[in-house]
Amino acid sequence: MKIIQKPREMQDTADGLRRAGKRIAFIPTMGFLHEGHLSLMQEGRRRAETVVASVFVNPTQFGPKEDLSSYPRDFERDRKMMDSIGVDIVFCPTGEDIYPRGYQTYVTVEEVTLNLCGASRPHHFRGVATVVTKLFHLVKPHVALFGNKDFQQLVVIQRMVRDLDLDVEIVGCAIVREPDGLAMSSRNTHLSPEERREALSLKRSLDEARDLFRSGERGAEGLLARVRGILSSQPAIRIDYLKICDPDTLRDIDPIQDRAVLAIAAYVGRTRLIDNYVFPECLEEGR
Ligand code: PAJ
Repeated sequence: MKIIQKPREMQDTADGLRRAGKRIAFIPTMGFLHEGHLSLMQEGRRRAETVVASVFVNPTQFGPKEDLSSYPRDFERDRKMMDSIGVDIVFCPTGEDIYPRGYQTYVTVEEVTLNLCGASRPHHFRGVATVVTKLFHLVKPHVALFGNKDFQQLVVIQRMVRDLDLDVEIVGCAIVREPDGLAMSSRNTHLSPEERREALSLKRSLDEARDLFRSGERGAEGLLARVRGILSSQPAIRIDYLKICDPDTLRDIDPIQDRAVLAIAAYVGRTRLIDNYVFPECLEEGR
């Protein structure tokens, strides 16, 4: 497995691979990897000859009061995990490599960033869209893989790729969960044992909403009330948002007519977690 830090070297390597006719799959990450990240890399392995993963905790997607400084990092552990599943190249630039002195160019995606995390985290998706655009220009992938766990991020990237005619296929992959249902996240490491137990109510409330939907409920308010009831009975949980949206436009909808996403963001203690469920469930495995 090759490790590349410098943007220029990454670009030259990508050019060489393309000249040799190799297909490049790319998985951008912020490190502190778990099975969710690895599932994207394994899917990349199935789709291309060369798998490139990046590890970069992107400062521009964190707000001033957010957890940039406490975001978990362990490159040695990440490196071993990627090596063991056959990643070919790890791109791990520094902040200075990506945003050198004088940097002032950003990508903003408009409507699909207004709701959900975009409303709670101003500038977050500007940072994501900017860094993903830069990474695409450095890694030059044919296909890039993203998790459905960050559902809005996937929608934003798909919109950006269409709008800017970026020549890369975007693939959304299913949410990977712990055996007890908690969606895997690098931030789960911050949870105390008690918070970890309470965090299970996110998935439990989504399951309840799914069952209510199956029994015929289509009203967003009815479905969200069930979710809210479950989450608010947990003392360590503070809801950031609970929404049912159109999965393409991410505008709120009520009632559900065709497809919809139920999205949750909640603080469990001081840790902000997100999870979602796509109705009807047959669509959950890939948008
Ligand atoms: P990060 O949170 O490290 O996630 C990297 C990728 O892993 C994202 O596509 C995310 O959706 C996916 N992922 C995370 N948890 C998952 C899970 N439990 N199941 C399936 N996929 C999961 O998302 C980012 O980093 C950054 O915003 C990034 C795209 C790298 C830009 O900085």
